[in-house]
Amino acid sequence: MPATGPARLEVEDLTVSFGGLVAVNGVCLTAEPGSIVGLIGPNGSGKTTTLDAVSGRVTPSAGSIRVDGEELAEYLPEERIEVGVVRSFQDCRLFPELSVEDVLMICEDARHPVGVVSSTLQMPWARRAERRKLAAVDQVIGSFGLSRFRHHRTSELSTGTRRVVDLASIVLARPRLLLLDEPTAGIAQREAEAFIPLLRRLQQVADCTVVLVEHDVPLVFELCSKVVVMESGAVVSEGTPEEVSRDPRALAAYLGASAEALEVSGPGAGGRSGD
Ligand SMILES: Nc1ncnc2c1ncn2[C@@H]1O[C@H](COP(=O)(O)OP(=O)(O)OP(=O)(O)O)[C@@H](O)[C@H]1O
Ligand SMILES: [Mg+2]
Repeated sequence: MPATGPARLEVEDLTVSFGGLVAVNGVCLTAEPGSIVGLIGPNGSGKTTTLDAVSGRVTPSAGSIRVDGEELAEYLPEERIEVGVVRSFQDCRLFPELSVEDVLMICEDARHPVGVVSSTLQMPWARRAERRKLAAVDQVIGSFGLSRFRHHRTSELSTGTRRVVDLASIVLARPRLLLLDEPTAGIAQREAEAFIPLLRRLQQVADCTVVLVEHDVPLVFELCSKVVVMESGAVVSEGTPEEVSRDPRALAAYLGASAEALEVSGPGAGGRSGD
């Protein structure tokens, strides 16, 4: 697999069962390199489970998951991170006493561990490695407009700013395929809107492909070139936001409730129409 650049994801006939419950049932999904694909659908429709299968947290009972043509089945979750499959969120609330810079340094350290002894003895390679890490951290601080919060403790930040730090930390994991599960959950609508340019910047700065699970449909429609709608473990509609917003099956499965917010209307808005 190439070490850099956005990856191509192909999920084919993916099925995941929990005991007798089929949570994901024959899902097919493709994300082209560098695209942002939205995955939407009602609660319990299998979105998170689909991401879990790609990241390796759950084992599919059938189907294939390929990144740049390579089957992931044999890869452990930690090996998937190494090839650039990065799942969701760091949560910098884990380090309330640390500054933004320190939290980001920890994320960078996690990727490029330098032996404690080498660091302590200030070996030249350790000093060079430290400088490289600091440069990487500087760059994300700049890219995400966090300069003035650099030395603030994360516990002093607003929820929105903390999420920006979380997004910035994702860049340091060097994702090639980024799986985001409800990144705007729990934040105010106004701050969620501010997330649109931030997520776009994340995708550009990290230079990755993104699969985004979100209940904020306007945000998904604004950001994503392709939207996939799930219901009861299966894909019921997919296409551009425009196509999906007109698809009676998407409206029946999920968008009907948001139709007013989206200013869409159509014959399928009231109920499922046959296919
Ligand atoms: N570890 C698990 N064990 C048993 N059942 C599970 C497990 N994880 C998920 N499920 C079930 O699988 C189905 C799909 O759940 P999933 O979390 O993928 O849905 P979702 O689309 O992400 O929903 P939400 O929008 O609420 O996050 C649900 O019926 C859920 O209860
Ligand atoms: Mg979920």
